[in-house]
Amino acid sequence: MLRLVSRPLALAAAFALGFLPPAASAGERIGDFALIDHRGQHHQLSYYSDQKAVVLAAHGIDEAAGFEAPGGVTFLYINALQTEGRSRLTDVTPEASAPILVDESQMVSASLGLNRVGDMLIVNPASMQTRYRGNVSELRDVLPAVLSGAEGPVMGQPGNGRAITSAAFEPVSYTNDIAPMLAEHCAGCHHEGGIAPWAMTNHAMIKGWSAMIREVVQTRRMPPGQIDTHVGKPILDVAGLTPDEHRTLLRWIDAGAPSDVNTETPDPLTGLEYDTKRFSLGEPDLVYTVPVQEIPATGVIDYRYVPVPLKLDRDVWVRAMEFIPGDRQVLHHVIAYVSTPSDRSMRGIQTGVARGESVGGFAPGRQPDQFRDNSGRLIRKGSSLLLQMHYTTTGRATTDETEIGIYLHDAPPQHVMSGGVAGQRRFMVPPHAREHKLEGVQEIARDAWLYELNPHMHFRGKYMNYSVEYPDGRSEMVLSVPKYDFNWQFNYVLADPLFLPAGSKIIARGAMDNSAQNPGNPDPSTPVHFGLQTKHEMFFGFTTLRYVGDKPPALVAR
Ligand code: HEC
Repeated sequence: MLRLVSRPLALAAAFALGFLPPAASAGERIGDFALIDHRGQHHQLSYYSDQKAVVLAAHGIDEAAGFEAPGGVTFLYINALQTEGRSRLTDVTPEASAPILVDESQMVSASLGLNRVGDMLIVNPASMQTRYRGNVSELRDVLPAVLSGAEGPVMGQPGNGRAITSAAFEPVSYTNDIAPMLAEHCAGCHHEGGIAPWAMTNHAMIKGWSAMIREVVQTRRMPPGQIDTHVGKPILDVAGLTPDEHRTLLRWIDAGAPSDVNTETPDPLTGLEYDTKRFSLGEPDLVYTVPVQEIPATGVIDYRYVPVPLKLDRDVWVRAMEFIPGDRQVLHHVIAYVSTPSDRSMRGIQTGVARGESVGGFAPGRQPDQFRDNSGRLIRKGSSLLLQMHYTTTGRATTDETEIGIYLHDAPPQHVMSGGVAGQRRFMVPPHAREHKLEGVQEIARDAWLYELNPHMHFRGKYMNYSVEYPDGRSEMVLSVPKYDFNWQFNYVLADPLFLPAGSKIIARGAMDNSAQNPGNPDPSTPVHFGLQTKHEMFFGFTTLRYVGDKPPALVAR
């Protein structure tokens, strides 16, 4: 984020006078939010809408008292103390009696009016109304009355622990702070012709959308593809606002989204330019057009498996692959599998899919696949691509004619890139299960370097993380996606490839949510098992890796 260069006086005054955080008092409706807890699990308030009550209590390590929540009541601590933070919370309270949600930006606590450790809110999660505001020490006494719906006091004592001091209020400037932040984190999709449904073109647009922006940021819905940045290895271009950016953006919105655009300081969002080249990587060596797909106006469309014969007269080394969707509004994702000349029957091809041998893919927001470190993937003469294509309907019938650009190495590359998968294919997720855990292992038989990770599940996917168990017994987390979102199929690229000695295991752990609380779940009442269709599930932790010593054999014909 750019720092403030000039501080317009009028703006500073507006902040000093007019700004109060929108703290909820008892009886008021509160906004939805999502936070990651001290153990890395994602919690969203609205997820608990089937509970009779949710208790939210401001947490401090020294003050926390255990509380045994009765059935139908969910107890969540929220820790916004700047002196504590995720790593301390994880170290000191690994086995806390309740999840401790880590409010790094402090904007959830500020919105809820949790100002001191011990402050407590009892919320009706279905209506999002607060039922009681008081001190957590009163919980045992007031909860029965609150649950029975009896009329009674709605306000108790405030918390008596440490004050939650927030970061100093600094004046926020639209042109210096907000616009550059949105340009960096959002406008890559939110521009004219981009994949998002509205474009961040000027201040008026942002102001008009500001209430919605507040909500999507507080619930971690935008930017999509967020990971748990407290664990795992560094990932390239990782999505998400820093806690400081989050706080700056929300304080600006809560102050009425003021503008400091004038004749001397033009609107930075108006001047942004975007690459309109059809293929962002330049002209491909080979271009294929996928057979036209008819997309109806409404309904759920099953996955389509579309073969694309590559008609290669020689073996080729692929260095990159890019998909250009014909209709971005309907093409949801593509996973490309290679079917070799020997996979003749559809059954043979499907076995390849079920094994999870992908070569690349497309999803909104996903970068084109490019193989690093002078490596490539071999595609044999006579092969076809088999595309798993997923479409969504938009209310208007349309056709999609997606193009695939393939970029080749002129000479065989130095290294061979391989695909792998840590997946589980035999499972049954019971109806209504909220968290059915699954695990897949990829055994690394020879020394290798791990480059990319691409979690893939369907509607019921809840979370997935990857860790590595080394032959010496050590194990470490590589990536954690605490809230898997079926709408986004990101390929996470490690900033530095990770060495995996022979005998290592890549373990993908995750869970399916087959309950009605999962808004993406088409049918909570049916058991779900592995399958290629959307109504079935997949649990694939795709990997891209390079085995040491895998050298390209000479090309068959050049
Ligand atoms: C990778 C692409 C991408 C990025 C980056 C991105 N968005 Fe979005 N955004 C979308 C798409 C696509 C939609 C519409 C579908 C949806 O709501 O998921 C959307 C929808 C929205 C909506 C409307 C939500 C609704 O329910 O109508 C808001 C508000 C929004 N984005 C704000 C942001 C903000 C703020 C950022 C940056 C902090 C951001 N987006 C970053 C792609 C993106």
